[in-house]
Amino acid sequence: MKLFIISGARPQFIKLSPILQDLQKISEIDYYHLHTGQHYDSYMSEVFFKELGLEAPDINLQIKSTKHGEQISKMITGIEEILLKEKPDGVLVPGDTNSTLAGGLSASKLQIPVIHLESGLRSYDYRMPEEINRRLTDHLSRMLITTSQTATNNLLDEGIKESWIFQTGDTMVDAILRNSERAAKISSILNDLGVKKKDYLLLTLHRQENVDTKERLESILTSLNQIGEIVVFPMHPRTRKMVEKFNLQSHLTNEKIITIDPVGYLDFIKLEKHAQIILTDSGGIQKEALTLEVPCLTLRDNTEWIETIELGVNKLVGADENLIVNGVNDIRSNIIKYEKMDWKNPYGDGLSSEKIVKEILSRYNSGNLSISSNRML
Ligand code: UD1
Ligand code: UDP
Repeated sequence: MKLFIISGARPQFIKLSPILQDLQKISEIDYYHLHTGQHYDSYMSEVFFKELGLEAPDINLQIKSTKHGEQISKMITGIEEILLKEKPDGVLVPGDTNSTLAGGLSASKLQIPVIHLESGLRSYDYRMPEEINRRLTDHLSRMLITTSQTATNNLLDEGIKESWIFQTGDTMVDAILRNSERAAKISSILNDLGVKKKDYLLLTLHRQENVDTKERLESILTSLNQIGEIVVFPMHPRTRKMVEKFNLQSHLTNEKIITIDPVGYLDFIKLEKHAQIILTDSGGIQKEALTLEVPCLTLRDNTEWIETIELGVNKLVGADENLIVNGVNDIRSNIIKYEKMDWKNPYGDGLSSEKIVKEILSRYNSGNLSISSNRML
């Protein structure tokens, strides 16, 4: 089987890493990795390939950042040309970025079966480009890999055929479990930053609906100053750009707010593991917080990772100054409750990637990974 894998952004390299490692063990699948170039700075891309021992992508389209429509259309043009030449039997796209949608559209237009990793998630928030990307990609796909029953149910509710869905768990859980020990040994980030275990909060922020809106961004930054705790803040390039554009730098001069460039995966795992609380608007980091048993406050009005909320280990606080400050105080005064909590991971046992690779091959060999007019398939 010839399989194309398409990625482009930081979380995609991480969720693909176990799959890329496991594919190396299966000689029946000949795989190629195409990077759209959506993320291009070395701390957003190259560092992950190096740290995770992954081969560099076979092709990098180097599309970089621009307006959504322009970016997606450039990606489609580049991907289509390569798919026409290489004629793969399937195209795997992870997540919900513009690279995901471009890969899904290019493949489905050429009648190449699309395999969507991390299918069925819904935030029901149409302000999010990710909600558009993931919904459309799901409906272009012939194999929809889900991380939980909720995601599977969302697809069934939208009329996706049950036989097209494959529920396993989350390959981001596989990735973090495979790398936690190494991060503990190798990373010196706590010493480098001069912070102590469980004596700081970790913050990440990059969601378009937060950082591209001055009021929301300012409200979040103001809350950091009110909390009065040490906050480690590896700042996404989009956020850095918007802080400068909105002239909000003065909110980050407090010496307790440690603003740094994005860090590599091993340093980030170490920072997550030893944080007292994680504050984030990231999708992936909400799940990593749960996996590492660290309480999380999500700086959004909704989340597609609904199980983290149901378990009581994650709380939505939006961009509201008071909710953020109260959320932090509440966790800090109930820290024993979190230590005693049952942190059973709803996103799998860390072995999802192996199951996925085997299932792709099995579906291909049995003819169940094909574009067909037969409604029963
Ligand atoms: C993208 C994804 C988002 C994902 C996030 C992960 C879409 C629509 N968004 O958002 O779903 O959660 O990646 O981090 O696909 N930039 C750099 N260097 C880089 C990459 C980006 O400086 O290597 C800056 C550019 O100024 C760019 C901005 O960041 O304009 C945003 O980059 P872009 O890829 O468009 O979106 P993200 O916010 O990174
Ligand atoms: N991450 C990292 N360094 C950082 C910030 C995040 O390695 O400085 C990793 C993190 O461990 C997680 C992924 O990046 O695996 C999350 O990516 P991001 O928040 O950019 O995207 P999202 O998950 O929201 O799509």
